[in-house]
Amino acid sequence: MENIYIISCKVVLYYILLIETFLFSLEITINILKKGLIKLFTLSNPVKLFFGKGSFEKLGEAVDGLGTKALIVTGKSSARKHGFLQKAIELLAEKDIEAVPFEKVTPNPLSTTVDEGVKVIKEKRCDLVIGLGGGSAMDTAKAIAICAVNEGKITDYQPGGKYADKEPEETLPIVAVTTTAGTGSEYNRYLVITNVKTNEKPGIGYESTYPTVSIVDPRLMLTVPSEITADTGVDVLFHALEAYLSRESNRYSDLIAKEAIKLTVENLEAAIKDGKNIEARTKMAWANTLAGQAIDIAGTVAIHAAGHPLSGHYDLTHGKTLAALGVTYLEQNYQADPEKFASLAKLLGYQGDNLSIEELASKSPEALRNFLQKINRNLRINDLVKINEEDIKKLARDTFKTMQGAVLNNPRPLNTDDIENLYRESL
Ligand SMILES: [Fe+2]
Repeated sequence: MENIYIISCKVVLYYILLIETFLFSLEITINILKKGLIKLFTLSNPVKLFFGKGSFEKLGEAVDGLGTKALIVTGKSSARKHGFLQKAIELLAEKDIEAVPFEKVTPNPLSTTVDEGVKVIKEKRCDLVIGLGGGSAMDTAKAIAICAVNEGKITDYQPGGKYADKEPEETLPIVAVTTTAGTGSEYNRYLVITNVKTNEKPGIGYESTYPTVSIVDPRLMLTVPSEITADTGVDVLFHALEAYLSRESNRYSDLIAKEAIKLTVENLEAAIKDGKNIEARTKMAWANTLAGQAIDIAGTVAIHAAGHPLSGHYDLTHGKTLAALGVTYLEQNYQADPEKFASLAKLLGYQGDNLSIEELASKSPEALRNFLQKINRNLRINDLVKINEEDIKKLARDTFKTMQGAVLNNPRPLNTDDIENLYRESL
């Protein structure tokens, strides 16, 4: 009798254990599904990255074997003034690589400058392109690398162009040496060139436009003026923030985007106040690299989508246009994904306890405004340019034509009215 009792107890215990295991597994599965842990994604980034103080010294070693004659694409003065151009030429010479400087890049780089660079690279028979500078220099280098070995001009590859649907399979090898913590172009495929005929400023990018090698040396950033540090730092913040909010985000892009937001919130102000602060510069350089990869994976959303036309048509600084749209964007979109916007509010430094997720999400615009205020970038469109109702309609049309991918990434679907309202309420 006693034996039967013991066996019965064991059977009951066995079933209890079985049910508990089942419920536990079910709970984990539900949590996984809720948090999107099993969302399918693929990761690929072919860029060989040299990061950190002193990495510029490795330029020769980094490009050894990639070519014998390099076009160095850079801006009109700062790379020469600070000695980076000369140093690059010397480092390349150590590896018997000849250098041809092309010092014509402007902020908001132009399609005509790319055309000019393509002419030079063909005449001089260079077999390698090095972008030395901020996003403008690196993006121009990428565009030249496309057109050097493919048919047509860079504008042919932009939306509406005759090769818009054709992916260039090959480019010349691209090397990116960034001197700002801004576009993240050194660690992703994207390039943004202003079409001088239409003033459109689309972002394009292909498997072939990843840099083969990138160098991110924060020592090259120590001389960046405070105004440019602020504008490029804002770009880092919005890359990270928009990648985090994107419908295309995944567990990995969230991880790096959140780290980039945190690093920017903690270090941008210090880098602006004291440009020689190597620790702040290094952390912003890292934030930029991470944010550059985050947008490569998840893309941007409507802030960049609406910011590019504003910058292209009125020749405005990219970072300033993002700052002018950002707060309104959060006000108009926080209800689309309360959990993410709540987390964003905290990442942006919002201090507040006992709030529900929805309440915290509603604080994200205030948190962003407070941060932008600290770095003197709490801007409205009216602070940058005066635009009227007709301009707003033109800008919204342009947004859908040139930045449709970013519009589609938005956490809630957007139509032309929504984009017009984003401009209108940001005035
Ligand atoms: Fe950007």
